Amino acid sequence: MSASEAKIPLNNGLSIPLLGLGTFVEGHAVRHFNIGVHMSEPSQSEQIKTAVEIALDAGYRHVDTASIYFSEKEVGMAVRSRLEREDFTRKEIFITSKLWNTFHDPADVRPACLESLSNLGLSYLDLYLMHTPMGFQNVPGELFPRKNNMILASNVDYIDTWKAMEKLVDEGLVKSIGVSNFNRSQVERLLSVARIKPAINQVELHPYLAQQEMVKYCQSNGIVVTAHTPLGSPQPNFEEQILLDPVIIAIAEKNGKTAAQIILRYQVQKNIVVIPKSLTASRIVQNSKIFDFKLDEDEMQKITALDRNWRRYNIDIFQSDTHPYFPFSE
Ligand SMILES: NC(=O)c1ccc[n+]([C@@H]2O[C@H](COP(=O)([O-])OP(=O)(O)OC[C@H]3O[C@@H](n4cnc5c(N)ncnc54)[C@H](OP(=O)(O)O)[C@@H]3O)[C@@H](O)[C@H]2O)c1
Repeated sequence: MSASEAKIPLNNGLSIPLLGLGTFVEGHAVRHFNIGVHMSEPSQSEQIKTAVEIALDAGYRHVDTASIYFSEKEVGMAVRSRLEREDFTRKEIFITSKLWNTFHDPADVRPACLESLSNLGLSYLDLYLMHTPMGFQNVPGELFPRKNNMILASNVDYIDTWKAMEKLVDEGLVKSIGVSNFNRSQVERLLSVARIKPAINQVELHPYLAQQEMVKYCQSNGIVVTAHTPLGSPQPNFEEQILLDPVIIAIAEKNGKTAAQIILRYQVQKNIVVIPKSLTASRIVQNSKIFDFKLDEDEMQKITALDRNWRRYNIDIFQSDTHPYFPFSE
């Protein structure tokens, strides 16, 4: 099976490709947060667009973006270039974007979605996710509104935000809706009132953060789980280096694959969608070659045993463990 064929059904009759390209490029996004406007840095903008084109050419049929990544324009340009070339049709490509925390007020949801669609140059999204359950106050021009260095939480309930997202499906602006960074009790609460069930919960998942109970809960309730940060977003200064883990390396050597391929294969074999980010052509291609081998039960168990509840994204910037919807626990 190839990357373009590997899909998993959603609870609404549609399906999502198991492999997508992540497009959060920290330097690029942070530059936008700091200046607070949509200005592009030519070199990284071009790199993101090229990465998406390489991915599409390598068989990826799913791209993950978000308004807060400031990569929607680049994703849109790359996707439209391949649509114009008739490499595939719009129906064959799956585009995810996300509602940022400052737009949780129901009145802000539709305009935020329209802005994402305009950035992408597309008429609909395949999936729109609530980026986190934590709303921030909508202070014009501020993506991380703060007072005394503390994030200004909003008092909008994510249930009300969700109801506004359901209307986007009714209107045909998005095909599916879902959530991101929701813990189990938040998903449970949402399921108890949702008219449209969330199709996806996108959370941080990798061999050092298994979140087994939450994954089991979502999957047994018809919610597909997507692993963001599937490689642990390796940084040279991190103590935790999943790609260098001796257990992963031994399994990689045995299978004639790289550590990254083993880590990604582990998730897709558990019906978990993966969205690794890379701007490097050879890695983008490498990460797509995970559908031509299978890990055995012993290898799967050895990887599962690596869980140590380590998070890449503690999001301490939010300073919000007092926020009513602070999500980062099972
Ligand atoms: N919903 C959320 O709150 C949320 C949060 C975080 C991320 N995400 C999504 O998840 C995506 C992935 O997460 P992430 O970007 O944080 O981290 P990641 O995909 O775990 O790791 C990305 C890093 O791994 C490197 N890499 C990629 N493939 C590799 C390979 N085969 N071998 C060695 N190194 C490799 C990349 O380097 P190069 O680019 O230099 O090749 C990049 O620095 C994001 O881009 C975003 O779309 C969502």
